[in-house]
Amino acid sequence: MKHWDLFLAPYKQAVAELKIKLKGMRGQFDLDSTHSPIEFVTGRVKPILSILDKANQKGIPLENLEEEMQDIAGMRIMCQFVDDIHVVVALLRNRNDFEIVEERDYISHKKTSGYRSYHVVIRYPVQTIRGEKKILAEIQIRTLAMNFWATIEHTLNYKYKGIFPSDIKMRLQRAAEAAFRLDEEMSLIRGEIQEAQAFFTRNKELKQQGKN
Ligand code: GTP
Ligand code: MG
Repeated sequence: MKHWDLFLAPYKQAVAELKIKLKGMRGQFDLDSTHSPIEFVTGRVKPILSILDKANQKGIPLENLEEEMQDIAGMRIMCQFVDDIHVVVALLRNRNDFEIVEERDYISHKKTSGYRSYHVVIRYPVQTIRGEKKILAEIQIRTLAMNFWATIEHTLNYKYKGIFPSDIKMRLQRAAEAAFRLDEEMSLIRGEIQEAQAFFTRNKELKQQGKN
């Protein structure tokens, strides 16, 4: 439908540009040979049917979509470690090419479903032939473990239309707990790695000093 093409065009543009920009951040860390807080980046424009479904469920009039549906343009940044998420959020806050309008921390405050992620909603300016158009986009920042859980839960949600049988619900909660523990274990291992690196660097420096 022509109307939808016109409506979605700036969102498609924004997702394409943000993919380049956020993947570019990863590339810069690679150049530095330092640990990249970004593992990989994905982005999508919400399919029309999903927009209509959500508008219907939330009672959003279609003429209010631009202001009231924040995730028509959606980006995801996957990180190895929970600490990386905070580094990425700080990097986003420092950028000058968009404005942050809202942050939702479902890591400190996980959802009752077990969902964890950090959400940043931005107002992003798209340059069009009719001038600048600012659109809302949602950036979800999460660890690989959080992403694994959310992806599985989302698929099941689709299957059961949000009404899980109680055994599945319990299993999902246990899986969320396991994903949380995995993130904790990995953070501890990361601490070990960094301690080892610091130790080797110190030793090397001391040997160097001994030679001089
Ligand atoms: P939405 O109506 O989904 O936008 O909820 P909201 O306006 O309260 O925003 P929120 O930040 O809670 O969630 C936005 C997005 O986060 C959703 O579209 C999903 O991608 C993701 N999300 C939130 N809760 C869950 C959850 O319980 N499970 C999964 N798999 N994803 C979730
Ligand atoms: Mg939302």
